[in-house]
Amino acid sequence: MSNSILSIIEERWSPRAFSSKSISKEDLNLLFKAAGKAASCFNEQPWRFVYAHKEDTENFNLLLECLVEFNQEWAKNASVLVATVAKKSFSNNGKPNQHSWHDLGLAMGNMSLQAMSMDIYLHNMAGYDKERTVKNLNITADFEPVSFVAIGYVGDKNQLPNDLKEQETPESPRKDLDEITFVGQMGK
Ligand SMILES: Cc1cc2nc3c(=O)[nH]c(=O)nc-3n(C[C@H](O)[C@H](O)[C@H](O)COP(=O)(O)O)c2cc1C
Repeated sequence: MSNSILSIIEERWSPRAFSSKSISKEDLNLLFKAAGKAASCFNEQPWRFVYAHKEDTENFNLLLECLVEFNQEWAKNASVLVATVAKKSFSNNGKPNQHSWHDLGLAMGNMSLQAMSMDIYLHNMAGYDKERTVKNLNITADFEPVSFVAIGYVGDKNQLPNDLKEQETPESPRKDLDEITFVGQMGK
């Protein structure tokens, strides 16, 4: 039995420097399809994706201007920007879905690994303005924005300002297993 995790998991990271190469509509749809295969509570599939290709300037800018300035600075070079949106209630009984963000996270995990298998990288973002997102992207009352994602092929880090250039690395630190796993009770 192999002693290592899958290479697409091992090698995934979040770049900020993207190349000018465009992601085709077909490839983007494969990413969304992978996301949509995730498990979800009662198979609600609470995830929604509002997106724009960079070439679609009008819609791309609608998404871009929702981001905080720090993220706009580098995310403007992504091939595609996606806003992830969660449905707040269950469709069959209208009760609040406490698991919608969890399930959206599973979908994004699928998307990021499918992307890795296609040499495409994701950079998730929590740095955005919620009110502006609701307005710009026409998010209706039973939905809420969760995150933004910049998607593209990896580019030259020299395009980044100096402080970000230093942070552009596939090697960010990870907690040890004994910090995140416990037998029976936390702390043990
Ligand atoms: C939900 C979420 C929100 C994040 N928000 C931002 C953000 O607003 N700006 C940013 O530059 N990176 C953001 N990141 C990227 C993380 O900083 C990055 O994933 C983390 O440092 C681990 O690095 P790695 O993905 O390269 O392994 C976010 C990641 C996640 C999952």
